[in-house]
Amino acid sequence: MEENKKFYITTPIYYPSGKFHIGTAYCQCIVDSIKRYKKARGYDVYMLTGLDEHGQKIQTVAEKNGLTPQQHVDNMAKAAIKLWKLMDIEYDDFIRTTEERHMKTVQKIVQIFLDNGDIYKGEYEGWYCMPCENYFTQTQLVDGKCPDCGREVKKMKEEAYFFNMKKYENWLKEFYSKNPDFIVPETRKNEIFKNFIDPGLEDLCISRCTFDWGIPMPNDPNHVLYVWLDALTNYITALGYLSDDDTLFKKYWPADLHVVGKEIIRFHGIYWPIFLHALGLELPKKLYAHSWVVMKDGKMSKSVGNVIYPETLIDRYGIDATKYYLLQLMSFGQDSMFTPEDFIERYNYDLANDLGNLLNRTIGMINKYFGGIIPTNITKKTDFDDDLHNCAKEQISKIEENMDTYHVRDAIHDLWKYISRTNKYIDETAPWVLAKEENTEKLKTVMFNLAEALRKIAILSEPFIANSSKKILKQLGISEDCATWDSLNEYNMIKEGTKVIEQGEPLFARLDKEEEIEYIKNAMKGK
Ligand code: ME8
Ligand code: MG
Repeated sequence: MEENKKFYITTPIYYPSGKFHIGTAYCQCIVDSIKRYKKARGYDVYMLTGLDEHGQKIQTVAEKNGLTPQQHVDNMAKAAIKLWKLMDIEYDDFIRTTEERHMKTVQKIVQIFLDNGDIYKGEYEGWYCMPCENYFTQTQLVDGKCPDCGREVKKMKEEAYFFNMKKYENWLKEFYSKNPDFIVPETRKNEIFKNFIDPGLEDLCISRCTFDWGIPMPNDPNHVLYVWLDALTNYITALGYLSDDDTLFKKYWPADLHVVGKEIIRFHGIYWPIFLHALGLELPKKLYAHSWVVMKDGKMSKSVGNVIYPETLIDRYGIDATKYYLLQLMSFGQDSMFTPEDFIERYNYDLANDLGNLLNRTIGMINKYFGGIIPTNITKKTDFDDDLHNCAKEQISKIEENMDTYHVRDAIHDLWKYISRTNKYIDETAPWVLAKEENTEKLKTVMFNLAEALRKIAILSEPFIANSSKKILKQLGISEDCATWDSLNEYNMIKEGTKVIEQGEPLFARLDKEEEIEYIKNAMKGK
């Protein structure tokens, strides 16, 4: 029983080629929110993130900056760790593909493939996309350009090692017919079937000899591994697979969830299962291909001047506002557009008004009517209590269902429905009228129910906006042991004599819309 209570979740390992923008940050946020949710549900969670540091592109960028590739990736790794810390991303391990622990194991893995006859030497000719570090066949090109990024491709030919994918084609098809939900959303699976599996798998080129920033082939050091075998295996090398200490591997493999952007689902949905199968290892339980954050004028790009960096938003609006925005924005299957207007509106409406004011009004009233002590021992009901309780129950189960299926945005929307319902409860019960009428018993009920709703809201919001969650509890004077996920089913967790803060502090100060839109727009132009 204990065993299936573990949860191993991963992010892609990002290329450290430039500063990370909010697209990368989004992926960190969603994985972090799933991790926190699973943890709250009692799972032993292990979250892995890291950097994909080899390849020609990295070598080129480093040279441009007058650095060795190693110096360059060292700088980038520092920057990444700093950013994830700033964003309060709760990862358990950070793997870099230039680390000894990774390189050694990758060589062992390649040796196994060589010994088993999965790898052969041949000659590769194809259309190569430099930025994607990927070869394409003629038919895969879109308008003669890279089908993944739309940039120019170059015809290239070289001696190379290949992994015999064809050998595993039937196995892969059978695997998918038995596990039709392996990839979510389903559209992403359909795409890779249509474009790569149905036309017949091509063997994968796994080595290069035209540059040297990579892991040498164990049998032929003139060749370095071509990035995808190197990159994908990070998910097991980080756990100590084939190393002296494989405790983590034994405990956490197979992964429960790999979260990746939709443009790399093909590598995770075809090559990764085949590599694992060839090693005799279990496959991950699920792949989630998320969509992209896009801008009004398309993809984020420095030359267009529409790049937005997480630091810009965090420094001015805080971590929670930034995370909240990205998580509520991105739908399960579609690309979603960042606009400064929308960012400020969501901040003002959802965070400052709906959530912030709810807390502030509640604290203010408990202070005014009951000297700051949350009333307990409730004896009288109001007409609106049942509906509020039912809403809580319903939204909690929807949030759980959505988080269990990784529909993070939908879970947030469910939470905000509960927040709105709680705000409505204030209008319905009109506590100021009850106070005037000296209807103390009913007034007690209302104050208790509001505090109780906020306790639940704090618990439910922790996976998304952990700082605010803590602040809500703190302002209410409720200790964290009264705020476990299991206690969501309870209605009498608030201890007698619980005292709220005397002067509530706004969770989110309302912003001047025009001014802030201008601010973000300037930041996007690099001003
Ligand atoms: O592909 N919107 O690294 P990468 C949403 N090293 N997510 C975005 C995004 C956007 N606009 N831009 C990037 C690689 N991402 C390989 C991965 S894994 C074994 C190797 C996120 O630096 C998204 O998750 O290009 C995407 O898959 C990832 O960053 C790609 O990062
Ligand atoms: Mg990419």
